[in-house]
Amino acid sequence: MKTVLITGASSGIGKELAYIFAREGYHLVLVARTESALALIAKECGNKYGIQSSVFVADLALENAGKNLFDQVQARGIEVDVLVNNAGFGMHGSFVDQDVLSNTQMIQLNITTLMELTALFVKQMIKNNRGKILNIASTAAFQPIPNFAVYAGTKSFVLHFTEALHAELSSTNLSVSALCPGPTATGFEERAEMKDSKLFKSGVMSAKRVAEIGYQGLMRNKMTIVPGFKNKILAIASGMTPSRKLLVWVAGKMT
Ligand SMILES: NC(=O)c1ccc[n+]([C@@H]2O[C@H](COP(=O)([O-])OP(=O)(O)OC[C@H]3O[C@@H](n4cnc5c(N)ncnc54)[C@H](OP(=O)(O)O)[C@@H]3O)[C@@H](O)[C@H]2O)c1
Repeated sequence: MKTVLITGASSGIGKELAYIFAREGYHLVLVARTESALALIAKECGNKYGIQSSVFVADLALENAGKNLFDQVQARGIEVDVLVNNAGFGMHGSFVDQDVLSNTQMIQLNITTLMELTALFVKQMIKNNRGKILNIASTAAFQPIPNFAVYAGTKSFVLHFTEALHAELSSTNLSVSALCPGPTATGFEERAEMKDSKLFKSGVMSAKRVAEIGYQGLMRNKMTIVPGFKNKILAIASGMTPSRKLLVWVAGKMT
């Protein structure tokens, strides 16, 4: 049986991915800060699908968090076949007024830890000549977004990094995909202080649907997975807008 490691598995898209991988017979390695939520998912998936789960409680926004997690997984003798870098958060608001430390933690979590975990696990996957990596970007990756400047920047990194890695590893047995959800009903919008944003007023997808599309796309080794018709149109339109100034203005209006 194979094993998937999912960061940010305690809620939202990560939690739904855990149920899907369990349904497909994978053992789970669940990572987040909220132990009780992870323990409940582990128990439910064990009862329903007969798989085993390991829970790692970790703050992945800390320096060296990726290396520490990797070492702990190694010490428990767990071999990871699929890595899902899902943990992330956003902060909406004027950059000038934002707390620098919170933005630094966002970059650490959304970018540094994701890159670190990818670097450490991909080496093992190459050695084993098999493995899959799913990195969760966002439709925010397709253009700069005023009042979401740092978050959109982090997701742009995730998208470009993952697409480049997909190409680098195209001659191997490995699959590498970037999942780019648009507005999705999770704890994200409340934490990002976006509950009143136009983005979350209509066309919001369920975390379950986004996770299912992400899973299916990874299994087909799609480089970039954009769930939902509206999000696909937005992603295409971003790439076609002739003026970057117009693109940034529209993105700001939409959020
Ligand atoms: N929801 C959307 O509209 C949307 C759209 C595009 C992309 N995304 C992306 O989708 C991913 C999942 O977000 P979601 O929408 O499912 O939101 P969510 O429900 O808030 O889930 C975020 C997950 O990340 C974990 N996490 C947050 N900070 C962490 C830290 N410092 N250390 C370890 N784990 C941490 C949380 O667990 P704990 O709090 O227990 O640590 C939780 O499990 C994120 O990368 C997000 O940027 C979301």
